[in-house]
Amino acid sequence: MINGYVDLALVPRRTLYTGARMPGIGLGTFGSDHVTAGQVAAAVEDAAALGYRHFDCASVYANEHEIGYALEQVVRRHLERGELWITSKLWNDKHGENDVIASCRKSLTDLRLSYLDLYLVHWPFPNFHPPGCDVSSRSKDAKPYIHAEFMKTWRKMEELVDLGLVRHIGTSNMTVPKLKLLLRDARIKPAVNEMELHPHFQQPQLFDFVRSNGLIPVGYCPVGSPGRPERDRTAEDTVPTEDPVIVKIANRLGVHPAVVCIKWAAQRGQVPIPFSTNRDHYLGNLAGVVSEPLTEGEMHEISTIDRNCRLIKGQVFLWKDGQSWEDLWDLNGEITPL
Ligand SMILES: NC(=O)c1ccc[n+]([C@@H]2O[C@H](COP(=O)([O-])OP(=O)(O)OC[C@H]3O[C@@H](n4cnc5c(N)ncnc54)[C@H](OP(=O)(O)O)[C@@H]3O)[C@@H](O)[C@H]2O)c1
Repeated sequence: MINGYVDLALVPRRTLYTGARMPGIGLGTFGSDHVTAGQVAAAVEDAAALGYRHFDCASVYANEHEIGYALEQVVRRHLERGELWITSKLWNDKHGENDVIASCRKSLTDLRLSYLDLYLVHWPFPNFHPPGCDVSSRSKDAKPYIHAEFMKTWRKMEELVDLGLVRHIGTSNMTVPKLKLLLRDARIKPAVNEMELHPHFQQPQLFDFVRSNGLIPVGYCPVGSPGRPERDRTAEDTVPTEDPVIVKIANRLGVHPAVVCIKWAAQRGQVPIPFSTNRDHYLGNLAGVVSEPLTEGEMHEISTIDRNCRLIKGQVFLWKDGQSWEDLWDLNGEITPL
């Protein structure tokens, strides 16, 4: 730390296949329905002053307009645009061939940017449901993953790179079999896959697949999303920040267990994107990735506490009656049939 701020030279960077270097921690910006757009934007502006350079945005978070003003202030006051890494995402009701470019342009306008560093397809399903809806909500036109359809969307994502509107494109909430098809057919390969990753949901197979194919894993819900909406909670969910192994390490280091989750993530090689609007918390998370690393023994111990506990199950994307959320995640290694 330098004067309470973080020595940026120590923040890890992950090199993408293009050679671009992505900051190894980002600030999440999904307010989970209980934090206002203004509060998230204020956190973005302050976090940039403290040393954050990477912000994970999305049109569906309904705050890009406010974040855009914050980013404008950041660039006006103290940073060059090139020092920032800004991600946004295409929402699932905009997979149509005529919608992708328009949707990206809308995010660019809202964020007050001329280009994005990364644009992701938020979910591989085109199934619309209104933000904030209940888990039982289903789109009347809901469809499964249809690779030929997804490729039409992906061709438009590639066009965004050709147009210079985005520097990289990527995926989110993909599975190994879906990624295999995309890697086979893409003209411009995904640079990252954003996926749920925390000590109780380590996804070792997908994590290894992503890395061995030259993609960077970006980890969402890195501290187990304690503030997630009620609709994303079930009785079986576990809490990584209450795990005795995480708590023990936190006590040794004198930090909040959330910080141990962030340290583990960065040290394992994923890019965590913790959300917070609390200055002590987001500064603590950033400081966590530049301070004393976890020991090899601690890293090993955390690898043994995986509970395979997915928190964001995606029920609203199901496409027919009688399904369970597991059908979205291709658990037997093949894309779940129509
Ligand atoms: N691609 C996708 O489909 C997808 C899905 C979900 C999320 N995401 C992205 O991932 C980001 C992170 O996920 P998330 O927000 O669900 O979960 P998260 O980052 O695991 O958890 C955020 C919660 O943890 C608390 N927290 C963070 N740091 C803390 C600390 N040091 N000490 C104590 N509490 C701390 C925050 O509260 P305070 O505000 O009080 O600190 C907040 O309630 C999102 O904001 C979004 O950008 C992407």
